[in-house]
Amino acid sequence: MKSYIGVFDSGLGGLTCVRELIKKMPHENVIFLADNKNVPYGSKTREQIRVFSYNNVRFLNRFVLKALIVACNTSEANARDIIEENVNVPVYGVIRPAVKAALKATKNGKIGLFATSLTVKSKKYETTLRELNNDVRFYSLECPKLVPMIEEGKFSVDDQEMLETIREYLDPLLESGIDTLILGCTHYDVLIDIFNRYYPKLNVVSSSRCVIDEVLNELNIKEEKDAERKYFTTSLDERFDKVSKMIINDIEYETVDV
Ligand code: DGL
Repeated sequence: MKSYIGVFDSGLGGLTCVRELIKKMPHENVIFLADNKNVPYGSKTREQIRVFSYNNVRFLNRFVLKALIVACNTSEANARDIIEENVNVPVYGVIRPAVKAALKATKNGKIGLFATSLTVKSKKYETTLRELNNDVRFYSLECPKLVPMIEEGKFSVDDQEMLETIREYLDPLLESGIDTLILGCTHYDVLIDIFNRYYPKLNVVSSSRCVIDEVLNELNIKEEKDAERKYFTTSLDERFDKVSKMIINDIEYETVDV
């Protein structure tokens, strides 16, 4: 029977995971759900995120899943227990793989985090990091301006407004001496080219990419060449469709209630 890797996020961030998944596991069937009606998750309450996450999982459960990827740091940080209780396939979150990659990358033991307000407030990154290493210094920062700008498509390498916003957030962390930055929101993966161009010495760890490496290591990967990909959203408008196509160009959404 056909089974799918289910992936969800509030919106575009999840697509950066799916893009990586398609690149590394081109033969897997994928179901993606964007809860675009409720974006941004990062500025909602923890209780709201728990309800949204439950609804997203319930929707994905309509399909035969082989694994579930929580392609949303905010959701994982605030609702991982609910998600795990409601699926009976392996659940892959973005936080632990990103922390492991950052610990591997840092040379000076000073790691920074860019994330949504709700992810930072949950302290999930901090506790995960401390479980693995007690010696590194950790600097986390809420970056509430980034998701709305990314949702507007302002992430080309020469977008001055985005560059200024990144500078504003990053400067204090660089002053603290970080050599590694975790992009602890899957939306931020689209900013990697900007970081590479303007901050070539900084180790930038994308939570979107790290989780896919973990799935690749742990899951039994399909070899047949009949991959099916379905993209759903809880609300569709022209801008969301256009910016989604900047990440995955042949994407076609179906709008659903979850
Ligand atoms: N992409 C999500 C994350 O990884 C959520 C961003 C948002 O909707 O605020 O946290």
